[in-house]
Amino acid sequence: MRALLCKEFGPVPGLQVAEVPDPVAGDGQVLVRVEAAGLNYPDGLMVQGKYQVRPPLPFVPGMELAGVVEAVGKGVDAFAPGDPVMATTGTGAFAERCAIPVEQVLPRPASLPADVAAAALLTHGTTLHALEDRARLRPGETLLVLGAAGGVGTAAVGIGKILGARVIAAASSPERLELCRRLGADLTVDYAAEDLRERVKALTQGRGVDVVYDPVGGALSEAALRSTGWGGRFLVVGFASGEIPRIPLNLALLNARSILGVYWGDWSRREPRKSADAISRIAAWICEKRLSPVVTARLGLAEVPAALEDLLSRRAHGKLVVLPGQP
Ligand SMILES: NC(=O)c1ccc[n+]([C@@H]2O[C@H](COP(=O)([O-])OP(=O)(O)OC[C@H]3O[C@@H](n4cnc5c(N)ncnc54)[C@H](OP(=O)(O)O)[C@@H]3O)[C@@H](O)[C@H]2O)c1
Repeated sequence: MRALLCKEFGPVPGLQVAEVPDPVAGDGQVLVRVEAAGLNYPDGLMVQGKYQVRPPLPFVPGMELAGVVEAVGKGVDAFAPGDPVMATTGTGAFAERCAIPVEQVLPRPASLPADVAAAALLTHGTTLHALEDRARLRPGETLLVLGAAGGVGTAAVGIGKILGARVIAAASSPERLELCRRLGADLTVDYAAEDLRERVKALTQGRGVDVVYDPVGGALSEAALRSTGWGGRFLVVGFASGEIPRIPLNLALLNARSILGVYWGDWSRREPRKSADAISRIAAWICEKRLSPVVTARLGLAEVPAALEDLLSRRAHGKLVVLPGQP
């Protein structure tokens, strides 16, 4: 089968499409024909050896997929060939087939297209966990989303609205903010042109926001933390800016703020049932058209390296999806 192969950690263009042996469904595994796989910022970090997980080389990157079951291994009775499924895989999704431990595989509703499912698992799973389990976001609260036109950012705008929050989307251009408004954002901040703290202060009549969702890091983080009001919760989601900020802890004391880490991958391994329930709710919201993952490009395997570079260089928005069956 064809797969994108990472033979050594290094620059993203070093990735190549290669012919590799077809995987087989081992004991407790499901063999899936991959119809679509989502690209994520961490894929770009992982192939460079800069992610918290460094898989043994060579490996096929790709953390999430949707497709159809081709075969099941010994001991698997939850799925059968032909079933539509979706899965988070950690690695292996940028290939025509992937063998996955059954506990990571979820049924995919027939009305949920593979490309939309593959775009939604990681970003929306992370976001629902962050907003509900970590920040305990309540209806009527104000949520500030940084990097709001990106993968996890667009998910936070959509899920924030479903959970009943007033959403302030913050991003680096008017075009990106227009996308956020289409997803339901109530208010916007262009932090390339406006001072984030001043603008949030004006938009909240000086009260500040209740929750910040921060996948960007860098200088924006402290400004956003200072923009939270009494009892504010600050979600540490990621550092797409490339800079891990150092925050003076007096900012947590002031206004009785909480700084909350989010590590969805580890949480979903520790809490597989809760994670599966969360993904089922997300799938239902998409099928009911309450939530619309933004797929901005559908690519062939050979186009993935350039697309990962776009993700790492701030040129992409929404979600990029690869269709491995496509030439
Ligand atoms: N904690 C978890 O469990 C978890 C799960 C998934 C992802 N993450 C992390 O979340 C972060 C975002 O992931 P994503 O897939 O949403 O990425 P993405 O689609 O590339 O979005 C990141 C956004 O960050 C902003 N940004 C600011 N400076 C940037 C720079 N120098 N390079 C690239 N983007 C920059 C961009 O928006 P503007 O141009 O509008 O600023 C961009 O849209 C990553 O650090 C990822 O590792 C964490």
